[in-house]
Amino acid sequence: MPDIAVSDVDLFGDDARIDPYPIYAELRALGPVVHMTRHGHYALPRYADVRAALMDWRTFSSAKSVFVDPQMNADLEGITLCSDPPDHTMMRNVLGRPLRPDRMREITPTIEAEADLVVDRIVAAGRFDAATELAQHLPMAVVSELVGLNEADRGKMLEWAEAIWDVQGPANQRFRDAMPQVEEFLAFAQNDAVPGRIDPDGWAAHLYQAADRGELPREKCPVMMLDYITPSLDTTILGITSMIALFARHPDQWDLLRADRSLIPHAINEALRMETSVPQFTRVLTDDHVIDGVALEKGSRVALLYGSANRDERKYPDPDRFDITRKPSDHLAFGRGEHVCVGMHLARLEMSALLERLADKVSRFEILAERPLINNGLRGLAHLEVRVS
Ligand code: HEM
Repeated sequence: MPDIAVSDVDLFGDDARIDPYPIYAELRALGPVVHMTRHGHYALPRYADVRAALMDWRTFSSAKSVFVDPQMNADLEGITLCSDPPDHTMMRNVLGRPLRPDRMREITPTIEAEADLVVDRIVAAGRFDAATELAQHLPMAVVSELVGLNEADRGKMLEWAEAIWDVQGPANQRFRDAMPQVEEFLAFAQNDAVPGRIDPDGWAAHLYQAADRGELPREKCPVMMLDYITPSLDTTILGITSMIALFARHPDQWDLLRADRSLIPHAINEALRMETSVPQFTRVLTDDHVIDGVALEKGSRVALLYGSANRDERKYPDPDRFDITRKPSDHLAFGRGEHVCVGMHLARLEMSALLERLADKVSRFEILAERPLINNGLRGLAHLEVRVS
């Protein structure tokens, strides 16, 4: 058996959060499995190995949580993301109901109307922050309404969600700074987002109604409510912002899309492949296991580097090139297998509604300024000032 490659790089340092791609390329070149000595776990940087791990939940378990810090992993065991079948199947069945493709068709007119509104507004302004003024609109206006929270509580959702993502990394300064907001968010889920204080027709209320029917234990409801908020806002907001930045840098690709709208779904996939907003989650081996010739012991924690897999030259020729005719529908930005993103139809719907309308009204995006988001669990741009013509 070959030795396991070793790296002392900190994937949670500022530089790596801003631009991890040169580091990912080094890790992919080192080997199929790299021992990340800083955080005491292993990493899979190559596409084929990440995909194989995602498709084998019995060996690559989520039940010991999917983050980095041991205490946080212990605290969050049993939430939807951090569970295996049959518990996972029970929670996901209920959680996924309002997010199914047929339910998406019902909300499409609302999403399209909101997309019209925001695109008209930013085009009239001519210059705007794509991250806050464009990308935030649909997730904030539509999703938070559908979840059924009070207007007053919605104001803090973005701040809370970003904090929860920050505690998904190691216990660095960002993690420590985020803890007070995380505690506030958990208390809100437990005490305030409960029947009587939420819209009885919203997604959150449906969780409690499912518990009343005996479909899941009631104590799961508060954390499952978080499943509608934490992963649904920044992920999509960052995805939309990255997409605008890519089209600004590649006007030829924007021209292609404007000339042929059937490219929209492929453009969304290509943007998510290029700028994966959730760069990694971890798994724990339930048995000794050989990955691409490298033996790992039962109990090893393994990071699945989605961001690296999506730029693997073994899978995607010339992987750093943004090419909307590539059609990379097998990218791993939404994961795969048992835990594949349950909100991906909604994310795609939001992204395509915006692209359709932008394609009608914008011939060029010009970047005036940008600032990266530095977060332990997410990647993308916090601000993207653009001018449109
Ligand atoms: C571009 C936007 C999005 C990206 C990149 C994204 C990414 C991901 C990824 C990578 C996973 C897999 C986790 C794993 O491997 O363990 C996941 C799961 C999940 N996503 Fe998304 N997501 C997005 C949008 C959304 C939206 C809009 C929602 C909800 C309304 C959502 C809800 C969830 C939930 C609840 C899970 C956990 C599923 C499970 O454990 O079975 N996501 N997402």
